[in-house]
Amino acid sequence: MKILSVVGARPNFMKMAPVVEQILQRGIPHLFVHTGQHYDENMSRVFFDQLGMPRPDVDLEVGSDTHARQTARIMTAFEEVCREHRPDIVLVGGDVNSTAAVALVSAKEGIALGHVESGLRSFDRSMPEEINRVVTDHLSTYLFTTEESADANLAREGIAPERVHRVGNCMVDTLLKHVRTAVERAPWTGLGLDPAAYALLTLHRPSNVDDDAALASVMQAISSVSSRIPILFPVHPRTRRRLESGGVPIGNGIRLCEPLPYLAFLGLMAKSRFVLTDSGGIQEETTALGVPCLTLRRNTERPVTVTHGTNRLATTPEEIQAGADEILAGHWRTGESVPLWDGRASERIVDVLVRSRP
Ligand code: UD1
Repeated sequence: MKILSVVGARPNFMKMAPVVEQILQRGIPHLFVHTGQHYDENMSRVFFDQLGMPRPDVDLEVGSDTHARQTARIMTAFEEVCREHRPDIVLVGGDVNSTAAVALVSAKEGIALGHVESGLRSFDRSMPEEINRVVTDHLSTYLFTTEESADANLAREGIAPERVHRVGNCMVDTLLKHVRTAVERAPWTGLGLDPAAYALLTLHRPSNVDDDAALASVMQAISSVSSRIPILFPVHPRTRRRLESGGVPIGNGIRLCEPLPYLAFLGLMAKSRFVLTDSGGIQEETTALGVPCLTLRRNTERPVTVTHGTNRLATTPEEIQAGADEILAGHWRTGESVPLWDGRASERIVDVLVRSRP
């Protein structure tokens, strides 16, 4: 059995790292492919180094472009890789353009496809990720899910239950492996921050940052929170461009920095008072850490973080303010543990593949 694993964009790295580790530990023949959707040193290379991932065997180097052109470039290049290496299984993770592009090619090449983090749904087709999720799931042979809602979504869409495997959360495998080291490095020290006395902000969703009025409104609400607690804001390249071109005012309490390496961000998140984000993965990471999270979106494809975890959705300035008030007053649920988010999801994935080798 030969497995080909694919990564492309930043959130893929922490999901696939423990799966790749399991495959290699068991001596299964493996080819590792990077599509190159993310390519900056601090959006890609630094994650490979910190997560101890092997260098990719193949880098498709597709870079940034419109969705259609980026997807098409990945498909064309990945088809050649499939034809040259003939894997038995292709593994993809998450919901980025690389995931859906590789899924389409694998299915048409007749190769079994495994989707890590399957079944999540925001029910919002204006998110490119939602389209990528639906396409990938419907082409997958093995659908590996992280939470109960995902199983229910897939059942509703008519996917046979024997293809669905609830294994837990690979990103949490990575988090649990690294959190101690990340905190020991005390990344707040160099930034002049004290543990539990700062908040952390990330913002990169097109719905929040690609529209100047939406970005100005969310930044205004957050600026007002920053008069009460300093907020560290590692800025995604997409967001930096928009902040600069839109001339959006930013409160004095908000400190901008470049995107952070995995360990620095994890350490900062673990010791933050709370997190404000529109990321998918960070909703799960804060729940795993028991850190309060305000998600700056109207919906979440990860409802378990709200029902079991520490997450709440907040989009209007009033909701953001009220959420911050409650957290700063110490009134926030600590959350409970999510079933199977125990650090062994990747082990379960490779067990399934070995048991049912195609
Ligand atoms: C992508 C994913 C999103 C994920 C996010 C995490 C899709 C549709 N979106 O969004 O789900 O949450 O990654 O970061 O796949 N850029 C750089 N350097 C890089 C990569 C990108 O400067 O290494 C800039 C480019 O100008 C590019 C822009 O960022 O046009 C957006 O990159 P892209 O990969 O298209 O989407 P993200 O917003 O990063």
